Amino acid sequence: MNPGQAPLRIALVGLPGCGKSTVGRHLARRLNLPFLDSDHEFERQMGCSIREFFEHAGQDRFREVEQNLIDQLTQGDSCVLATGGGAVLRSINREHLHGRTKVVYLHSPPEELTRRLRHDQNRPLLQVADPAAKLVELYAERDPLYREVAHLVIEIGRPSVSGLVSAVLLKLELAGVLRRQ
Ligand code: S3P
Repeated sequence: MNPGQAPLRIALVGLPGCGKSTVGRHLARRLNLPFLDSDHEFERQMGCSIREFFEHAGQDRFREVEQNLIDQLTQGDSCVLATGGGAVLRSINREHLHGRTKVVYLHSPPEELTRRLRHDQNRPLLQVADPAAKLVELYAERDPLYREVAHLVIEIGRPSVSGLVSAVLLKLELAGVLRRQ
């Protein structure tokens, strides 16, 4: 860390399956920063999977804990933070993310996410008869919120993880968030 300098926190937002955790982990490595993941932190603190938590305590309770986590994780040292796809639903989370971190929205149309998530069994919101329709619904509800909270939007398309990480780094440099390497 650089003493005296404001922490550099980069948060990744986007729908389930857009690659927040994978891109975040690689981005953190490239920037030599710690990587944090609000979903992993949730599971670590609660001692159970998110899917189990949804089944036993429900989504509202999940959102309460998630709000506390976003508040905590956006106040620490420099880091790259992957957030859960629904973290933008509460305005207080959007405020904390936008005010305390540089937010990158990994954008993808829902059809591509359906392809990526076709075998997923972990995401409680997608364990429904028609996950494709659910992703279209989530996209309609959340795309405006991701855009509202984001400082940068990256089209994920279908490049490699390293291609995506390079695109994020370039945009952060152009935005003056990172110094040119
Ligand atoms: C959620 C997305 C999940 C996880 C939880 C709720 C959502 O994270 O936080 O299942 O509301 O979209 P990912 O975006 O990493 O799947």
